[in-house]
This record gives sequence, structure tokens and C-alpha cells, in this order.
Amino acid sequence: MSLTDFSSGARVSQPGDSLPKVTMPALSEMKRQGKPISALTAYDYATARLVDEAGVDFILVGDSLAQVVLGHENTLAVTVDEMLYHTRAVRRAVRRALVVADMPFGSYHGAISDAVANAVRFVKEAGAEAVKIEGPRVELVRALTDAEIPVVGHLGLTPQSVNRMGGYRVQARTAEAASQLQDDALALAEAGAGALVLEGVPREAAAGITAALPIPTIGIGAGPDCDGQILVFHDLVNLTFAPAAKFVRRYADASALFHSAIEHYREDVEHRTFPSDAESYHLPKSARQAPGTGAESGFDDADAIVNRDALEDWAS
Ligand code: KIV
Repeated sequence: MSLTDFSSGARVSQPGDSLPKVTMPALSEMKRQGKPISALTAYDYATARLVDEAGVDFILVGDSLAQVVLGHENTLAVTVDEMLYHTRAVRRAVRRALVVADMPFGSYHGAISDAVANAVRFVKEAGAEAVKIEGPRVELVRALTDAEIPVVGHLGLTPQSVNRMGGYRVQARTAEAASQLQDDALALAEAGAGALVLEGVPREAAAGITAALPIPTIGIGAGPDCDGQILVFHDLVNLTFAPAAKFVRRYADASALFHSAIEHYREDVEHRTFPSDAESYHLPKSARQAPGTGAESGFDDADAIVNRDALEDWAS
């Protein structure tokens, strides 16, 4: 067990801290004002906290966690319970960003009433402020909106359709397909979707949809003309163990950083240079000088400053 008191640790104060909570209507207002929307995925407390503290507007607990966190081949295997578990962790970390939960494959593909019931779980049990669903499911978007659940649509390359698409391919590559995509986007907006992720589509198609839609578009592999951009956190920091797609920009090499840190740790343990005396707890001087008075004398105050509650657990 770590002695670090993680949840109550002081937050690095960021310019974003003073900004109001991002809501779904706020995203539309950003579009109206021409302010770009930043979005990233996050799947756990630590990464969500970093993303929120950096002032990112919209955090998606994406079903991409099936691949980048759980090691599945695609997104199809992840369950509602797994998505709820990760959404709760993210929600605990976030103060400002809009928290959107991805509905996993199978959780909204049957009866609309079942899909609404599953979406309600994300709001009630995990604190999601909106759900994201893939495909032109206009009736479902209407039903979710009627149930007071904000919806983010997702069109273009929809990873849950990988078997139907026969792989991950750029979509809407003909004028007809681009026009159909725009019709679908307009229908989702008309049904009440509050924002739309456009993935893996030609820049020109995304630009046209962005201009035509009253709601913000959030692009991933859809060019720079969308109202906002989203990336998978693990792509951004190189934690995917795979070559990056064309649309990914790596902003850090966490893989190299973590490798080096872990190797140094292993070497220090092997050479007995970790932990040092300074990294150890000590008996008070009086206990050391008077054998038999023992550990019940307790720890030096200076040695108990890490986290008293955790230390007591550990010592008992
Ligand atoms: O699951 C996910 O990470 C996503 C983004 C790629 C938009 O759906």
C-alpha cells in the first residue's frame, strides 16, 4: 500500500481553475464564439487529473480504453461495468472539463429503452455529464435527449463498426458518401446531439459539416477545420506500443521516460542503493538508546509527516 495521500494532494493551480465548469451548452457557445475546443481521452484518476488541470475542455472516457488500457485487439470487448468503473475514476479527478462516457458496443444496439437504461447508469452511477454513441442513431439520440441525457454523436470511422467496415478505413471518400455523412450529422443535431465527433474523414468533408452544423464538431483524423480536436491520451504521450496513425501528433515520449525510470529503479534495488537511510523510517533516539523500550514508543514526528492515517494503517 502506498503511504502517499493521493486523493487530497494539493493541485497545481492552473489558469483553467478559475474558469467555470464546462457544460454541453458551453461547448456550443464556444463554437458560436469561434473558440477551439480541446478534448482528450482519459481513463483513470491520475491521467484525468492531469488533463483537467491542463485546462482541456472535454474529457472522453473512451471505449478505446479496451485497447490502450486493457490490451484488447479492438474496442468491442469492453463492458458497461468496465466503462462505469473507469468513468467513476475519471469523474473523481475532474473539476472543470465536461466528462463524457463512451457507451460500449452492445449497450445501445438493441431496444431503445435498454439503451436509455444503460445511459442512465453512466449518469447516475458514474457521474457522466453526457454519453457518446457511434453511428447515425437518430431515434436513440432523440430518446436520450428526452431523458435529459446530453449526447455526443460519433460519425465517420466508427471503431465499433470495425467488422462491418473490414478494418479501420477513412470514410466518406466520395462526394455521395460525404453528402450522406453531412445528412446524418444534421439529423443527429436535429435530434438533440450536443456535439459530434468526426473520425477518419477527409478534411474537406469535415469542414463542410462543421460549417453546416449548429453544434460543435470535434475531429480526430478529420483535419484542422473542425470546431475542436480530440486525441487518445496514450497516442499523445506514446504509450500505445504501436506506430502512430497519420493524424496523431506525439507531444511526449512517456514510454521512453517510464522505461528509463523503471530500469533505474530496478538497478538501484539490485545494487541496494534504494532505499537510502534518508528514505527510511527510524525509531526515536530515546528508543534506540534504551533497549527494550521498543517500537511502541512510536515514530519521530518528523518521520510521521507523510500521511498519518496511512502510517497508522501500515504500522498496525
Ligand atoms: O474511444 C475513443 O477514444 C474515441 C475517440 C477516438 C473519439 O471514441
